[in-house]
Amino acid sequence: MSRERLSAVDVIRTKRDGHRLSDDQIDWVVDAYTRGVVADEQMSALAMAIFLNGMDTAEAARLTQAMIDSGDRLDLKVDRPTVDKHSTGGVGDKITLPLAPLVAACGAAVPQLSGRGLGHTGGTLDKLESIPGWRAQLSTDEITRQLADVGAVVCAATEGLAPADKKLYALRDVTSTVESIPLIASSIMSKKIAEGAEALVLDVKVGSGAFMKNLDDARALAEALVGIGKQHGRKVTALLTDMSVPLGRTIGNSVEVEESVEVLRGGGPQDIIDLTVTLAREMLALAGIDTDPVEVLASGGAYETWCRMISAQGGDPEAALPKAKHVHVVTAEESGTLATLDAYGVGVAAWRLGAGRARKEDAVQHAAGVICHAKPGDRVSAGDPLLELRTDTPDAVAAALESLQGAYTIGDPSPEHKLLIDTVR
Ligand code: URA
Repeated sequence: MSRERLSAVDVIRTKRDGHRLSDDQIDWVVDAYTRGVVADEQMSALAMAIFLNGMDTAEAARLTQAMIDSGDRLDLKVDRPTVDKHSTGGVGDKITLPLAPLVAACGAAVPQLSGRGLGHTGGTLDKLESIPGWRAQLSTDEITRQLADVGAVVCAATEGLAPADKKLYALRDVTSTVESIPLIASSIMSKKIAEGAEALVLDVKVGSGAFMKNLDDARALAEALVGIGKQHGRKVTALLTDMSVPLGRTIGNSVEVEESVEVLRGGGPQDIIDLTVTLAREMLALAGIDTDPVEVLASGGAYETWCRMISAQGGDPEAALPKAKHVHVVTAEESGTLATLDAYGVGVAAWRLGAGRARKEDAVQHAAGVICHAKPGDRVSAGDPLLELRTDTPDAVAAALESLQGAYTIGDPSPEHKLLIDTVR
């Protein structure tokens, strides 16, 4: 048996005692963990030491590189600039659906490898899988062909992409070490850099419905993500955007696809239009494309690209989407103005109705979710519908209603929240 160059115990001790890890230590420990030489309990101890003592940008960038090197890199052979977007996740965050075809219709190539939802935030693949026939799993050849033909592809990450991150993320999930900024940033960036896009816009969510509940943490994450991206020679911008209120009026899977199609056809809620256009402008600026996304959206060009993108993956863009078997309407108890609507409470309600999953292996209900008939600032009269709960399992309604306790108030309107809080370049 070959002798290992370094020892896991020494690497753990270095970080435990608050020192920087050397490039060699990082490269070795990630590779040895992927090979099964470093055991789960040792990697857990190292993850906790990083959680407690942090990492500087150079260490996090090296960790990112080591995780990229644990697997394959996509080689995107397309003759347009490639640009991607990543959101840290939120409630009603369906922006990828209108955004990817819009940016492609403006002339960029958008390779968006996405994930499934876990907990109260939804996953893009779960939403798209509510379209009959649509397929998430594509081969590398299919991804590059679709990028060249259509300009946009939203699909599952290929098997060999950053396997060290897959293993480490699963370990962090069960060792309470997920919420570490260098670990989150290197995890996200390893997948995004391995995917191969030249430019990346990050939508870092802030607020009750987000991973990062306060602005200081969200800003620190945005800075770490941008710092790693720059060290890897990518063009990266991070937008800090509000996630204290759900985005749009729908939270779930098929209901979010319907709302996205409304936006692509020239309608839809203003916050979804605004965020889609803001992110599109940033992506196009990084890609060096001087086209106005508002005009392309209005022209129907983005909708046409959406239909081609869905058809290319076996979906029928005209097909009726699943409808829930059971609907429960929550009405306003009094007249006034809807003052607050808490993203977390609504997200948990949608999740409990069946739109999300509790464990990786659970199935989601495609038609389950919540429709917001009113958003903060809207006038309501006693008896008006406020929230519509949809599910195939009526037994889930009681638990969903529990999560909505205190999640909305009727009274003095709170000051209007700003969707775009800041930009980190
Ligand atoms: N998303 C990721 O991909 N990794 C994390 O660590 C957290 C969120």
